[in-house]
Amino acid sequence: MAPYTLALEGQRFCCPRLPQRLLVRLLFIGDVFGRPGRTIVRRLLPQLKAEQQPTVVVANAENATHGTGMTRSAFEELTAAGVDIFTGGNHTLGKPEILDLMQEHPTVLCPGNVSPALRRHGFVIWQTPDGPIAVVNVMGQYCMNGVDNPFRYMEEVLGDPEIGAVRVKVVDFHAEATAEKAVMLRLLDGRISAVLGTHTHVPTADARVTAAGTAFITDVGMTGVRSSIIGLDPEVMMRRFETGIMYAPRVAEGDATLMAVVVDIDASTGSSTSITLLQRDH
Ligand SMILES: [Fe+2]
Ligand SMILES: [Fe+2]
Repeated sequence: MAPYTLALEGQRFCCPRLPQRLLVRLLFIGDVFGRPGRTIVRRLLPQLKAEQQPTVVVANAENATHGTGMTRSAFEELTAAGVDIFTGGNHTLGKPEILDLMQEHPTVLCPGNVSPALRRHGFVIWQTPDGPIAVVNVMGQYCMNGVDNPFRYMEEVLGDPEIGAVRVKVVDFHAEATAEKAVMLRLLDGRISAVLGTHTHVPTADARVTAAGTAFITDVGMTGVRSSIIGLDPEVMMRRFETGIMYAPRVAEGDATLMAVVVDIDASTGSSTSITLLQRDH
């Protein structure tokens, strides 16, 4: 049975330092929502990196600007804070300039199954001192419009010779349904280092490493205002639900929480050894 750790803690959380560099440590940050999300990343990520010593930092940035998409200035802000790779979801195309960013920076991803024209932007191979890491971004079909089959897309990506040569492979599966995410784990179990769910903005208590060495969590959660409705202003959202009138949502204001997972992966085999859920407040 592979080792398994799970921690749900606040500010006092501390993870042991890597014993050696044969492990790849991934720090994956859940959906960064609006200015409060970007601000807490900017404030906490440098300290987190010093403590955790991640090999690579990945953040889901589909909500980074006003809750919808990511502008160039938000990309630059998060890059300066220490994010290496950006994944996305159903809101990624909400800001058209993301297309320019994706062309300029292969580290800016969108789910590869959202459009035939964007299939190659669904993954990147990131070089580290411990070898390459492949990061893949794919979206579920349940409650999502116009999305190609995510399971076929993953088979296509894993069949790519470039990806096939990389041992450490992680996927951000941006999906609504828990069952769809569980099926993705079943499909990829033992073939990929980690299947990390995003999109619901609510972290789940099912982080684990399977016997075949794949780390999994149904949803990493959100990096945004704690007392919000999944990042949005509660007053506006209550009025919407009470009246049925689609008042324009706005990003909530208040204290934020950073939600993330730390995944340790054996660089020589691509198998994960642990996944730890992390929540930090200001
Ligand atoms: Fe999101
Ligand atoms: Fe989403």
